[in-house]
Amino acid sequence: MLQGPVLARADVASLTEAEAAAELDQLALAIARADQAYHAEDRPDISDADYDALKRRNRDLERHFPALKRANSPTDRVGSAPAEGFGKVVHSVRMLSLENAFAEDEIAEFDSRIRRYLNLGAEAPLAFTAEPKIDGLSLSLRYEGGHLVQAATRGDGEIGENVTANARTIADIPHHLTDAPDLLEVRGEVYMAHADFAALNAGATRTGGKSFANPRNAAAGSLRQLDPAITAARPLCFFAYAWGAVSAPLADSQMGAIARLGALGFRVNPLTALCDGPAELLEHYRQIEAQRATLGYDIDGVVYKVNDLDLQRRLGFRSATPRWAIAHKFPAERAWTRLVAIDIQVGRTGALSPVARLDPVTVGGVVVSNATLHNEDYIAGRTATGEPIRDGRDIRPGDWVEVYRAGDVIPKIRDLDPARRAPDAQPYIFPDHCPECGSEAIREPGDAIRRCTGGMICPAQAVEKLKHFVSRGAFDIEGLGARQIEMFFVDPDLAIREPADIFTLAARDGANLAKLKNRDGFGEKSVGNLFQAIEETRRISLSRLLFALGIRHLGESGSALLAQHYGSWDRLVGAISRARIGEGPEWEELLSIDGVGTVMATSIVTTFHQPAERASIDRLVTQLDIQDAVRPATEGSPVAGKTVVFTGTLEKMTRAEAKARAEALGAKVAGSVSARTDLVVAGPGAGSKAKQAAALGIETIDEDGWLALIGGA
Ligand code: IVH
Repeated sequence: MLQGPVLARADVASLTEAEAAAELDQLALAIARADQAYHAEDRPDISDADYDALKRRNRDLERHFPALKRANSPTDRVGSAPAEGFGKVVHSVRMLSLENAFAEDEIAEFDSRIRRYLNLGAEAPLAFTAEPKIDGLSLSLRYEGGHLVQAATRGDGEIGENVTANARTIADIPHHLTDAPDLLEVRGEVYMAHADFAALNAGATRTGGKSFANPRNAAAGSLRQLDPAITAARPLCFFAYAWGAVSAPLADSQMGAIARLGALGFRVNPLTALCDGPAELLEHYRQIEAQRATLGYDIDGVVYKVNDLDLQRRLGFRSATPRWAIAHKFPAERAWTRLVAIDIQVGRTGALSPVARLDPVTVGGVVVSNATLHNEDYIAGRTATGEPIRDGRDIRPGDWVEVYRAGDVIPKIRDLDPARRAPDAQPYIFPDHCPECGSEAIREPGDAIRRCTGGMICPAQAVEKLKHFVSRGAFDIEGLGARQIEMFFVDPDLAIREPADIFTLAARDGANLAKLKNRDGFGEKSVGNLFQAIEETRRISLSRLLFALGIRHLGESGSALLAQHYGSWDRLVGAISRARIGEGPEWEELLSIDGVGTVMATSIVTTFHQPAERASIDRLVTQLDIQDAVRPATEGSPVAGKTVVFTGTLEKMTRAEAKARAEALGAKVAGSVSARTDLVVAGPGAGSKAKQAAALGIETIDEDGWLALIGGA
């Protein structure tokens, strides 16, 4: 309930600009809360007169200080009408995810991998921070001149959603900072505390509204509201733990940077500790795990980060995760239930995946009724190489099974209870034909998965490919989800059979929307919205497009690597079209990308050379406006665009580090010297490559020369 003093205000003319700004923030929040209570929850919590007074005060302040009028001013808002949709934000520094570890020995391995990369001996000091991994959703807050100017979700890491108006309603997020760098992007986690989550769900149950499965979903659902008034009414919290672009360093250590964020007014996690190596990290992990149940919010592990920011910079990133951090996840949660049936799903690559249909059971707070059974060997109780699993016990429909899940991962079956098996339970026979199209389903030697051979004629594969195409990490088309894809796939007039068909839908429907409007669930407004959403996604980043194609073995990180390497669609498609599996410069180029192996490379080349697939891709591409990859900042880099070869022994850094830094500066690192080489960096013991360089007249420098060349870059 709003208190009286909110309404007892000083004369507008006597206020300074800073006071007015602070009051406008407060008013926006108060009005948003009142709107939400009135319009969305049907339980107004202030009188009409008080509400009008708030709006009047807001309008008066805006008239007197027009520069302070916010884009989403309550003055311009009638009730709580939703905004149009989220704008897109290109992150100036990518928002990454973290590599996961589950076992303790992976932490020792993390430490030694870093030492190897940095060429640090086993005895050299190497400190880490350890802090809870908050189970919410990440958010990037951009401050310019100390003012919060933008808040964006992670999205695909490169492009997120603009949720500024919503973030402003979160009490933990300061609107103004004093003594902050001129540009500062603060990153952290939005989450909902257990008590607030329980109250929200209880309220939803009372009013017949939708409840959330867990606090993380509730936090995400609350932040990603088109109407900030709804976000304002949801009790969201924020912990800061990282940063993006900054105009001046926050500190020289992770611990120092976190302390600085705390001093600037952000909440930082009090369980953050400095540890001097794996033993201390594990000790702190156990301490945090012991407090997990009493923290009042969900955490799903402990994050370890190299403390020295200079070392973090040297370690840099793989495609989607930093080398200097790891998430040590808590063990999975488990529960027993009955396996009702085993169904086979056919995926977009033709894989026949067995799915366990379960009597619903709660595992770690989430109701689970499906779980993966991996493949036919797993059901039979053996590995692909014939080793027994579960002591060789097979899984049969009707069995009592133990289900487990860790974080977001699809639930899995861990074991079964032989004592509770029905005497007439029959072993499960895995199908050798596709249950969807009847084509033969075969297992290639060495492949654990049986696959439908139907290719493009298999409707299940085609539909799954389309569902993947419109999914969140791919084109993410609002209003075109899995359900609509299934509907359009079989539509007699407006069929969507391949991705290109999505972009011709509006034209095929004609300007009057006559056909689609009468479809199940589509009205004039939703048709318009759908066409607009489709139009908006014609402009797509190269890495998202590659991921969306659903090429086997090419996931989000592989797509990001290809996009970074080739830069543009034309360059990529040219090179892959010319590539031959196992030979030639284009093949070598593909394999030279750190993170691309022969399996991925073979799959990519095969796909682009398969005539029907290629024709379908070409039809799609003519519909799109493909954005070149956001290149690493190489402005002013002396080696951008140059081809560099390292040879001999490097003494100040490892080969991996040298390669990664050169690439970060826009250079291409090649394994052999040729006429196309621009520069050779030769350490002691350099042999034939240095000679070859001399013979070709290519500039050759030593390691110190290289370091001098790239300077502090
Ligand atoms: S650091 C460059 N620290 O976990 C690394 N992330 O699985 C940036 N998360 O996307 C992340 N608590 O949303 C970091 N203390 C913490 C975290 C944390 C939760 C989330 C974050 C990230 C995800 C990766």
